[in-house]
Amino acid sequence: MASYKIIIAGCGHMANVWADYALTRPDSEIVGLVDIQVEAAARFAENKKLSCPVFTTIDAAIEATDANLVFDITIPASHYSIASTAMKLGCDVFSEKPLAESLEQCVELVQLAQKLGRTHAVMQNRRFDPRIRALRQMITDNTIGTVGFASADFFLAPHFGGFRDAMESPLLLDMAIHTFDQARFIMGANPVSVYCHEFNPKGSWYSGNAMALCIFEMSDGSVFDYRGSWCAEGAPTSWEAAWRVVGDKGTAIWDGHKEPYAEIIKDDAQHGKFLYEYDRIGSSVLEMPLTFHQGCLANMFDALSQGTAPETSSSDNLYSMAMVLAAVESARLGKKIDIRTYLTK
Ligand SMILES: NC(=O)c1ccc[n+]([C@@H]2O[C@H](COP(=O)([O-])OP(=O)(O)OC[C@H]3O[C@@H](n4cnc5c(N)ncnc54)[C@H](O)[C@@H]3O)[C@@H](O)[C@H]2O)c1
Repeated sequence: MASYKIIIAGCGHMANVWADYALTRPDSEIVGLVDIQVEAAARFAENKKLSCPVFTTIDAAIEATDANLVFDITIPASHYSIASTAMKLGCDVFSEKPLAESLEQCVELVQLAQKLGRTHAVMQNRRFDPRIRALRQMITDNTIGTVGFASADFFLAPHFGGFRDAMESPLLLDMAIHTFDQARFIMGANPVSVYCHEFNPKGSWYSGNAMALCIFEMSDGSVFDYRGSWCAEGAPTSWEAAWRVVGDKGTAIWDGHKEPYAEIIKDDAQHGKFLYEYDRIGSSVLEMPLTFHQGCLANMFDALSQGTAPETSSSDNLYSMAMVLAAVESARLGKKIDIRTYLTK
């Protein structure tokens, strides 16, 4: 008998990868589908050859089935209501990003999961990439020494059409959660403050601000600098962003395409020279059996079965969300935001 009886809430585009993963697990069974557009749920059931019932609300689905786990793959505006209802009705929740739309909602969800003893985890698929793990390993191995600075460049020009073209802060609210969460992972530090300048460059086809420059002070005294654009034609970066991490012994580079490497001061460098010479060090990119969405989902299931916190639990994800929401607030007010007090407001 399956240990995990899953309801999929939100049967749109992203639900495919989640359902396909669940169907590979012998310990899991999809027992219900929910979508406010019932025909989307019915179509999804047919495409995936699922015989489970379909519903239009999460409460009705949980009450009518013996579900104990909800995949929340609805739109961001529904994450708070789906997760809070599901947790109150006895289910653990694995959710697509973002955790929720406002800081108040994010904090409430984290507190609710703690109070009820539920697992609530958020999809941060870009952490489950062998190359970002290799970059992180270079930092923890002290290859470049103590990190003082990291930067991420993100320059792309996707012509989405649809809701992103009309949003107020499409880059910060829809995409930067990935890059900010990557920064916390790479640096092993949490945010302390942010100053953000958000704007919409001439020629942008977005109504809202498609570009943002952010400076974050981090908990270990280092600084993370983000330069991002969703309307930069030509010379695109990777969707993983292009990274430079500077330590007191050298610099690690990851362009988001190839494998990371570092350049560090040669062992026999003569002190007192104007410029030192460097050795180039490759990174150890290890095979990961499951990557991206599948890797993150596998981590969530492992943690649930072992009674431990998933790497991307909502209590951890709160810090990445705070980076996004405080950056928007900083841009709106035109001043630096203290993220620690922002989090306890
Ligand atoms: N991790 C990633 O790389 C990544 C990529 C794309 C999208 N996403 C996220 O995945 C989520 C879903 O995105 P998508 O592209 O699949 O969107 P989508 O519009 O294709 O699908 C969302 C579905 O949710 C349904 N829905 C909306 N509100 C609902 C509610 N209250 N109850 C039940 N169903 C509801 C809609 O009817 C729709 O069928 C979003 O949070 C988005 O940010 C993540």
